[in-house]
Amino acid sequence: MAYTLTVNGSAHTVDTEPSTPLLWVLRDLLDLVGTKYGCGVAQCGACTVHLDGVPVRACVTPVSRVGARAVTTIEGIAANPVGARVQEAWKTLDVPQCGYCQAGQIMSAAALLAATPKPTDAQIDAAMDGNLCRCATYPRIRKAIKSASGQAEA
Ligand code: FES
Ligand code: FES
Repeated sequence: MAYTLTVNGSAHTVDTEPSTPLLWVLRDLLDLVGTKYGCGVAQCGACTVHLDGVPVRACVTPVSRVGARAVTTIEGIAANPVGARVQEAWKTLDVPQCGYCQAGQIMSAAALLAATPKPTDAQIDAAMDGNLCRCATYPRIRKAIKSASGQAEA
């Protein structure tokens, strides 16, 4: 079936099964490989993208459910001023270790700051709870979110 998706501001038509996860549409059909596959069952956050600014797990989002909502991936997040600030903070604080989880972390952080410009530690913990990092970069992630929000680092 053909689906037309708006991804990072551009329309793309793909031909695939209704149940195909958005993750595979992005990676395999649109060559947007910044979004990663971790668990495949909404447990790790590696595949996080935005639908109309809301973070979702692309591994469990069938393409047929995306509809007219705007898809934003790590490749497009810098077009948003908040996303650009988050990416800059990530670079300045050298957050990634192996890097595998970091696209998802940045997407969750950008959504948090768009909704809550000055999050408390508890709000950061709640928003980032579903994004796992095997390298345990959590302290730097929190510092980068604080920095991107213009608050003093924790
Ligand atoms: S790959 Fe989607 S949440 Fe783990
Ligand atoms: S930086 Fe390695 S899994 Fe997070």
